[in-house]
Amino acid sequence: MSISPKQSESLLEKGFSRRHLGRISSLLTAAAALPFYNEFTMAQEVEDRMNRRSGGMRRPMDPDAVRITSNENPLGPCKEGLEAIYKVAPLGGRYSPTGEAADFTAMVAQTEGVKPDYVFASAGSSPVLTASACAYTSPTRSWTMANPGYGGGAPAYIGSKVVRVALRSDYSHDAEAMIKADPNAGAYYICNPNNPTGTVTARKEIKYLLAHKPKDAVVVVDEAYIHFSDSAQTCTDLVAQDKDVVVLRTFSKAYGMAGIRAGCAIGRPDLLAKLRPFGSNGMLPITGMACAAASLRVKGLVEERRAINKKIREDVFAFLSKKKIDFIPSETNCFMLTVKGMTGQQVNEAMGKHKVYIGRTWPIWPERVRVSVGTAEEMAKFKMAFEKVLNA
Ligand SMILES: Cc1ncc(COP(=O)(O)O)c(C=O)c1O
Repeated sequence: MSISPKQSESLLEKGFSRRHLGRISSLLTAAAALPFYNEFTMAQEVEDRMNRRSGGMRRPMDPDAVRITSNENPLGPCKEGLEAIYKVAPLGGRYSPTGEAADFTAMVAQTEGVKPDYVFASAGSSPVLTASACAYTSPTRSWTMANPGYGGGAPAYIGSKVVRVALRSDYSHDAEAMIKADPNAGAYYICNPNNPTGTVTARKEIKYLLAHKPKDAVVVVDEAYIHFSDSAQTCTDLVAQDKDVVVLRTFSKAYGMAGIRAGCAIGRPDLLAKLRPFGSNGMLPITGMACAAASLRVKGLVEERRAINKKIREDVFAFLSKKKIDFIPSETNCFMLTVKGMTGQQVNEAMGKHKVYIGRTWPIWPERVRVSVGTAEEMAKFKMAFEKVLNA
């Protein structure tokens, strides 16, 4: 998919240069080789590290390695999702054998209480995140976001202004400071719960943004981790009320479908119309769509997975508290910790020597490093390796 002459014209009018148009085009055609950090990049880096250990040979996943880098879900897709894949895969010679994307869209709409034309299906939420940057921001109308946060890579790469605003001391987004930092942003991006902290931002902050933003700006609420949280409140009801809110959802996290791909943007049709030209062209993998739709039909799945994640996370937090290790109390499948006397990157490298691959660091907090929550067995190996690192 490349940008049309009409799109080029409107992007040039918004202040993008021809060089930036090339970058936008490369993102849309996926011609750019991992141009900025995202969780997929992290996962690829770990694969590279493991492959280097085995002399550069690509090999099956090392059963001894613990990959808790990219906020993936080791549970994978649910049984019903897998059955849907088996059922649809033999029909894969056809683009849309039984309207899989339409069924997915209808299921999301029903689950979230919006009309089907308020849902724009996507292969995960990265494509709609990138499309949001292209649609709502420009070199003069910023993408204003939290620091540390997720999602700044695409707007920066295409040449949009990116404004980063420190999280509050309780690790929530500071809406007032975001408006102060850029009263004329094109998009205010709230990741709720936030990546990398796993912390929640209250509804009043989103309301503040809606009340104080420029008339034509959009509040983009990325709810990638919402299913793991006990307290985060979804913004899909604000979408149903036709507010200037676009909610991004992925099936890569609680639903365990990072490698299978499903996600969407949920917003008023006129807001979706702006991002549609930069999103997918409607060609979506039937396996991903069928798996996601089947997963949405499973009653109690989210609650079950939330409880599993919480139990493992709280066990790790109890371990860290006992060791007097500073960590941020997250409500998701990732959290940040600090080891006194070491940078986050040093902790990362030391853990890697024990084949436990943890996440990354953010420039604003070089002392902290992010860890994803794996299975109970994986986190037992994490604890063992972590003790060795502490005692080294
Ligand atoms: C906050 C957030 N948004 C969006 C994404 C994109 O996920 P995906 O493209 O796998 O749907 C991620 C990935 O980890 C994320 O952490």
